[in-house]
Order: sequence, then C-alpha cells, then structure tokens
Amino acid sequence: MTINPRLDALGEPTFSRLTQLLAPIAPRANETPIVMSVGDPMHQPPPMLAEIVAAHAQLWNKYPPMAGTPELRSAIADWLTRRYRLAPGTVTADRHVLPLAGTKEGLFLAALLVVPERKAGQPPAVLLPNPFYLTHQGGAGLSGGEPVYLETSAATSHLPDLDRLSPALLQRTALFYLCSPDNPTGGCADQAYLERLLLLARQYDFVVAIDECYCEIYDRTPPVGGLEAAAALGGDLANLLVFHSLSKRSNAGGLRSGFVAGDPRLIAGFLRLRNYGGSQVPLPVQAASAALWRDETHVGPNRDRYRAKIDAAEAVLRDRFGFYRPDGGFFLWLDVGDGVRAAERLWREAAVRTLPGRYMSRPGSDGTSPGDRFIRVALVHDESTIAAALERCLRVL
Ligand SMILES: Cc1ncc(COP(=O)(O)O)c(C=O)c1O
Repeated sequence: MTINPRLDALGEPTFSRLTQLLAPIAPRANETPIVMSVGDPMHQPPPMLAEIVAAHAQLWNKYPPMAGTPELRSAIADWLTRRYRLAPGTVTADRHVLPLAGTKEGLFLAALLVVPERKAGQPPAVLLPNPFYLTHQGGAGLSGGEPVYLETSAATSHLPDLDRLSPALLQRTALFYLCSPDNPTGGCADQAYLERLLLLARQYDFVVAIDECYCEIYDRTPPVGGLEAAAALGGDLANLLVFHSLSKRSNAGGLRSGFVAGDPRLIAGFLRLRNYGGSQVPLPVQAASAALWRDETHVGPNRDRYRAKIDAAEAVLRDRFGFYRPDGGFFLWLDVGDGVRAAERLWREAAVRTLPGRYMSRPGSDGTSPGDRFIRVALVHDESTIAAALERCLRVL
C-alpha cells in the first residue's frame, strides 16, 4: 500500500503543524485563552439563512442538481454584475457560473481540471504566491504539475512579481493561483495588475484562478476583481476563473456555499469534473444561498464591524511589529522576528494563540521562507477581546 507521494511532498497541513507546536505547551493558568490563529467568523449570519433552510426542509431527501438551481445561478450572476459593475451579459447564469460546496473544493479541483501531463512539451508548472493559503498549495502539489512558489513581501505589495516570470516558465505554466484580497497578508491586486496577469495568461495559454473570498471585507476601497479586468480588456472571460464564498461575506462558513465563475469552456469542464468527484450543494442550502447573494443589507454592516476590529488593533499596536491595515480580509501579518518562537511564547506566556507565518509558506533551498519572521493574527473577536489579546502580545514580545 502506498500513500500518494505528492501528498507527502506537501508536508503537514498548516493547522496540524500548529497543533504539534502548541500541544506540549500549557498556557498561563490565570489568563483566559484567546484563539487568534483561525479565521472563523464570529458574527452571526442573517436570520434569513436559517429561516430559508427550514422552509425548504422537505427537500433534504432529494439529490440536488450539480449545476445548481436556475434561481441560485441567476442570483450569483446578478451579484457579480452588480458588485463588479459589469455590462449586462458579461456573466450569464447559464454559461459563466457554477455553485460549489464551499470555495475550498473548487480551488483544489481547479488544478485537476486544467493541469495537463505536459505543457509545451515540458512538465507543467502551477504558480502560486508564497506565503499561500493551504488549498492553493494542495491543488498545485497534487495536480501532477510542479508547484512554483512566487515569493511575495511588502516590497512586492504582497503580490507575485510578474516582472520576474521568465518566458520559459510562463510557457510551461498551466495554472496561476492568485489570492486577492490575500490570506494571509491582506494585499489586493489593482486593475493594472489583474489586466497584465490576464494578458500573460492569454499570451502563454494558462489559466488564472483568483481566490476572491474576502472581497467584501475591505478597509477603504472595494477590491477590484478578475472579472473587472476581463471587462476592461473587452469582456471576454477566456483563461479566467474567479472564486467566491458566502463564508466571510455572510458569516456562513458552516453553510459550505460558494461558486466559481469565468471562462465558459472552463465552467463546462468544471461541471463535468464535479460530476465525477464533486459534492452537490443541498437544495435548502442553494435556496438560502440565492437569497444571501441577493441581499446587500447585511454586507456593509458586517464590513464595518471588521473595520472597527482593525481600528482596535491599530490603537494598540500603532506601528509596532510592522503593523499595517490590511487592504482586504481580516488578518494581521506581524513581523515578530521569529514567528514560530513568538507563537510559542504568546501561547505559553499570554494564552494567545497565533499562527506562525512559516506554516503558510514554503522554504527555499536555503531553508528560509518568506513567512519566517511573521505571525498571522485573525481579527475575528470583538474589539475589547482583540485589544486585550494584543496588549498581552505587547507585554510578551
Ligand atoms: C483564502 C481563502 N480561500 C478560500 C477559503 C475557503 O472558503 P470556503 O469556506 O468557501 O470553502 C478560505 C477559508 O478560510 C480562505 O481563507
């Protein structure tokens, strides 16, 4: 019996590593533990979610359509058109969108969908940012392609530097994962960056998969989306897939509902692929999801609550540990010198659980990774808990 060696090559997943690191450590007994390592939304979803699921309870016996109901598909197409101010018809319910049982599975399956055995007569490459969100690494690593980690930092605005991609690499690139807003760094691509990436994808015939799950949690300006870049280039969605989720926008991580949109040829292929190994979205969940995508009243107040958390963090940290307000998402990416050691100390001495940046990044040949100096801190608690936790961090570090 063998386990797929590609799985072993990926190493331990982020949170297993964190558990192994912190399990032997007993946090100070006199302080209440505060978990800031996971990005689990703490706000409740709108009540309509539970009401609509309950109202469709007679549908739990039915296998749902893999392609999604027409109601959900049109709610998604309408939301995309509104959110990204697209010309009518740029995204249609029939051809351009496909519901997913959470974005995670779609991001992973995207690599199985598009990575061939060979590209331009060579082993195919899958490009991804470093540091990364685990699923992008998983898709890249299990696809059969060679994962190519593109280092990002404040100097590159937390985005892969497109100037550093050689034509030789681009020729054998099959897939490029981008995360915007980025988990963990909060960086957001601007319109020029996305247009350039899409043009490269078309020139070298690879697929751009943009994870836009945090697009509704932003500080100042709404992050630009891949579809807006495609629209500016004439409206053709060729070579583009964008991924969206209700997990953060509507605080519905437990609903497992998201979607992929983009190039109609890829969407048709995605449906075929998911018929083999994807999970349908249950009909009561589809009904609730359609209503959530149609509703904007809960989205702005939710964003404001995250902004207040960032304000609370800024009031405590000011410019320490390289604090900056993330353009999007709800994570702080703090430069603490040695992220693993800081996470250990914060748990032992302050009962605050954080995630070492090293566990979201890949070391290079010299053994160092671009996440080594950092911890990721999820701002999901209320402001006073965040302030108390960060005060404790300051005391220890
Ligand atoms: C960057 C990023 N993409 C995707 C996901 C998964 O989203 P979903 O709940 O829709 O599967 C997460 C979840 O934390 C995430 O941080």
